Formats: sequence, C-alpha cells, structure tokens
Amino acid sequence: MIYDNHNRPISYLRLAVTDRCNLRCFYCMPEEGIKYLPKHQVLTYEEMERLVRVLARLGVQKVRITGGEPFVRAGLMDFLHRLAEIDGLNDISLTTNGVLTAPHIPALAALGVKSVNLSLDTLDRERFYKITRRDELPAVLKTLDALLEAGIQTKINAVVMDGQNTQDLVPLTEMTRTMPVDVRFIEEMPFNGEGSHYPVLNWTHRRIIDEIRAHFPDLQKLPDPPFSTSANYQIPGHQGTIGVIAAFSRTFCGSCNRIRMTAQGTLKTCLYDNGVLDVRALLRSGASDEELTTAFLKAFSHRPANGFEAEQQRDTVTESMSTIGG
Ligand code: GTP
Ligand code: 5AD
Ligand code: SF4
Repeated sequence: MIYDNHNRPISYLRLAVTDRCNLRCFYCMPEEGIKYLPKHQVLTYEEMERLVRVLARLGVQKVRITGGEPFVRAGLMDFLHRLAEIDGLNDISLTTNGVLTAPHIPALAALGVKSVNLSLDTLDRERFYKITRRDELPAVLKTLDALLEAGIQTKINAVVMDGQNTQDLVPLTEMTRTMPVDVRFIEEMPFNGEGSHYPVLNWTHRRIIDEIRAHFPDLQKLPDPPFSTSANYQIPGHQGTIGVIAAFSRTFCGSCNRIRMTAQGTLKTCLYDNGVLDVRALLRSGASDEELTTAFLKAFSHRPANGFEAEQQRDTVTESMSTIGG
C-alpha cells in the first residue's frame, strides 16, 4: 500500500471514462452542455487499462467508474471485463445516471460489480425534467428495479436543491422502507460549469437531517464505514438506509484515500486541484511502467493536506462536475 505525504493510504481511484453526458442536470452543466473534448484527447480504453494496472500494483484496490455518464461511451462493458481481470483490484463500482444502464445490469452483476451509485434527485416526472432538462425518469426507475432485482448494492444520489426538490426528501426517504437501497442526500456544490459564485447554502446537512427527523422521529444514527463520505442513518424496520453527504460544508480531507483521473488523462490527487500530472502525455510519449510509477509516486508525495480550505478562499468556480468526475 502506498501512503501520501500526510500518511493517508491511496487505495481508491475515481476514473472518468468520458466527459459527455446525456442529461443536463442544471447543478452540473448549462443547458447547451459543456465544450466536450475532441476524441483524440480522451484516453483510450487501452490507455486506461494500463494505468489502472500500474496503480493497482501500487495498492489501489477500488476503482469507481464515473463520467460524465459512463454508458454514453461505446465499449464500456468490454472495458469493465478487462478491468475485472486486473490483479489487486477487489472493487469495481460505477456511478451512473441510469438512463442507458438497465440493459447492462445482468452483465454488471455477472462481472461482480460491487456497487452502483444512481443519480436520482426526484420521483416526480415534471421535477425530474426541470432538473435534468430531459424526460428520462421512467428509464432511471427501470434501472433501479433492475439493480434491485440483480442484487447489486445500490446507492441513490439526490442533490438537495432549494426550491427544486426539497419536497422529495420524504418520498425518497420513504423508499428505504421496502427497498434495500442507501438513499444519500448531497449538499449542492457550485460545480455547474457556469462560473457560479459560492452561494449561501440553504440546505445544509443539518437542515436535511432535521427535515427527515421531523417526519421520521425514530431515525437512528448508524456507524459510518471507514472513508465514507456520508453520515448514515436508518429508520428502524426499514430495509434501506439514509445518508447525508456534506459535500459543501464539511471537509473529508483528513481521511481521503481517493485520487481521480479525468477523461483526458489528468491525475487529480484532490477534488479541488486542477490536475497535478498529465498522464496522457506520459503514456503517449512512450513512458515505461517504471516511469509512470515514479511520476505517480511523486504526485502522491505532494498531496495537499486540505484542498477544501484553499477552495473556500476562491470566489468563482468554473468547472462542471461532469469534467471533474464527481
Ligand atoms: P463511494 O464511497 O465509493 O460510494 O463513493 P461516493 O459516494 O463518494 O461517490 P459518488 O460518485 O456516488 O458521489 C457522491 C457525491 O459525493 C458526489 O456529489 C461527489 O461529488 C461527492 N464526493 C465524492 N468524493 C468527494 C470528495 O472527496 N469531497 C467532496 N466534497 N465530495 C465528494
Ligand atoms: N453538487 C453536488 N453533487 C453533484 N453531483 C453532480 N453535480 C453536483 C453538484 N453540483 C453528484 C450527482 C452524481 C454524483 C457523481 O455527483 O448526484 O450522482
Ligand atoms: Fe450528467 Fe451526472 Fe452531470 Fe447530471 S450530474 S448532467 S447525469 S454528469
């Protein structure tokens, strides 16, 4: 296992396989979309497989596939099959919006995919359309059913937005009564690709929990697994659990085991850095595995102790969550 300069293990890679998406969630990107990368600037699957192999040798055990939306990239399932062969990886998971996912779920289960995180901010078709600018709620719900049927561990990600979906807190919580899902409410972050200013956050993790507790007074705190981004709760008798991710108001830096690879092959050792290593350039200049390893180790020895604090000093944010990889 490799530890960074602050003694945190590096064991979890978030790998964005594309910056493209078939939804237009307003908290992530503008209506017209973002300027997508030309194809030759995106890592090929062969390049991604190679760098995951190198990272797995260094101690990365978990890979979460993100995007954009992973399933808009052709050939994803073949790539996942190749990842599943890599020694040392014991957890391949995915984060998806669920629009194109349902037909692939039996294959994901057969592959041993550990968990799928599904973005679902509302159960109301009109609000879904307003938030995502696409009428795809039925497809997403089909994916949810298929995930449950396949027995894949499923987390629902619901970004809580003032004036948009706060009336969904209770119905989404209610889903845990009969479904073994982890419903996680996420504080909205200013990564909407439009140069947003830091807003005052009306719906903090505290307010979210207070609201849920007002409807479910016997809500109980659960112990949180190591490296969990969410604080977890359960309503006694319910099959699923509730989580709150304080993405905006809390720092996870102290126990952060994550690195990120963007679709264009830039390594980020913190959610908030602008990329610390151009891995694509290294790969395409013919670097050996040893050279890649040396470059990774150097990057891991310069991780900021707390990228979140520096981020709080910035007043404009121009990135889209779709290019950051979530
Ligand atoms: P697992 O623990 O593997 O289930 O991943 P996750 O819950 O972190 O991943 P997911 O892709 O479902 O992301 C859920 C939310 O957490 C998204 O809004 C992410 O942007 C946010 N998130 C993930 N990692 C970090 C982080 O390091 N810092 C902050 N502030 N938010 C994060
Ligand atoms: N703030 C908080 N969470 C976000 N996501 C996307 N954009 C934002 C944002 N601005 C979440 C989505 C997705 C996950 C990867 O990131 O819910 O499931
Ligand atoms: Fe697509 Fe996810 Fe961004 Fe929505 S939040 S536009 S589903 S990448």
